[in-house]
Amino acid sequence: MRKLCVIPGDGIGVDVTPVAVAALRILLPDLQVVEAQAGWGCFVEHGCAVPERTLELMRDCGAGLFGAVQSPAHAVPGYRSAILTLRQQLDLSVNLRPVRSWPGISPRPGVDLLILRENSEGLYIGREHMASPDQAIAERQISRQACETLAQRAAEVARQRRSKRITLVHKANVLPLTCGLFRDTCRAVLEEQGLGEQVDERLVDVAALQLVEQPQNFDLLVTTNLFGDILSDLASYWSGGLATAPSLNWGKGIALAEPVHGSAPDIAGSGRANPIAALLSAALLLRHHWQLEEEATCLESAVERFLNDAQGLDHGTQTTERVAQGVLTRLDLL
Ligand code: NAI
Ligand code: MG
Repeated sequence: MRKLCVIPGDGIGVDVTPVAVAALRILLPDLQVVEAQAGWGCFVEHGCAVPERTLELMRDCGAGLFGAVQSPAHAVPGYRSAILTLRQQLDLSVNLRPVRSWPGISPRPGVDLLILRENSEGLYIGREHMASPDQAIAERQISRQACETLAQRAAEVARQRRSKRITLVHKANVLPLTCGLFRDTCRAVLEEQGLGEQVDERLVDVAALQLVEQPQNFDLLVTTNLFGDILSDLASYWSGGLATAPSLNWGKGIALAEPVHGSAPDIAGSGRANPIAALLSAALLLRHHWQLEEEATCLESAVERFLNDAQGLDHGTQTTERVAQGVLTRLDLL
């Protein structure tokens, strides 16, 4: 029996997650769904952004769907972003973010790429200190083990997508130790997996330019935490922006799907949040975690047909309800 732990979180997380859960229930009638708490609201109420119970439920289910959480703009003692805690505590060490063109909303057709990003280390380990009152230093950690895990996932995804090109994105000319270890380890694993022919490399600055100029030339990009964070937001422009960008936090035997957007306090509760990113995140759980390719494609094609028929999204009049109905009824038809 498949189980899903739903963590709506704050703001529009509460509006969009039920739509994705509804889609999963149609595709997987036996799905067992439990709800868990996390985020700022949870912190205010219980003094903890990710209660132990939430971690227990996630470990028990093995699959989760996260909405979004709000973070205060200033440091609050005892508070740490819930998604960072979840990634760390559940060892969700790889982040997967596909970007593709959608009818009516993408600025250009023909883009279909996927960014795999290391999700646990790099510059995001949070080790910063003041070396003197006038000098701040941040440490960057790259480990062989984390790069191996990332490259093994890349090999898996490359086979699934029948990728012709796997691009390792780094800055080894300036950072020969950290980026060098990343590049050499990934290359070795991909060669061992028989994918050496497909491996290609780009310096991160060139990759950024090419993602703007010729996004259709990329297939699978593999990179470190900070580079992947920036490049994937940039690339999401081609899919039509934040409201349609999905992601999957991926560990061993456990995965947490998450729309890329935040809690959008400016529209929370207004009924105008677009649930497409949440729906497409659910499709990533189906494809990559549960290995249900057919169901994943079915959900994505329902989104595609809805957008096609609606000729895009009118942000002025589109409501969560209307998009939900439009996609869910097209799922029923399959
Ligand atoms: P945001 O993604 O929440 O919103 C940016 C803009 O995009 C807003 O104008 C919003 O209305 C719009 N937008 C986002 N998602 C949308 C959707 N599904 N449908 C329609 N419009 C949508 O980013 P922002 O404003 O920088 O951050 C707001 C809060 O969210 C902050 O507290 C921030 O810390 C948090 N955040 C949380 C993330 C997470 O949970 N993983 C990621 C990013 C931000
Ligand atoms: Mg980001």
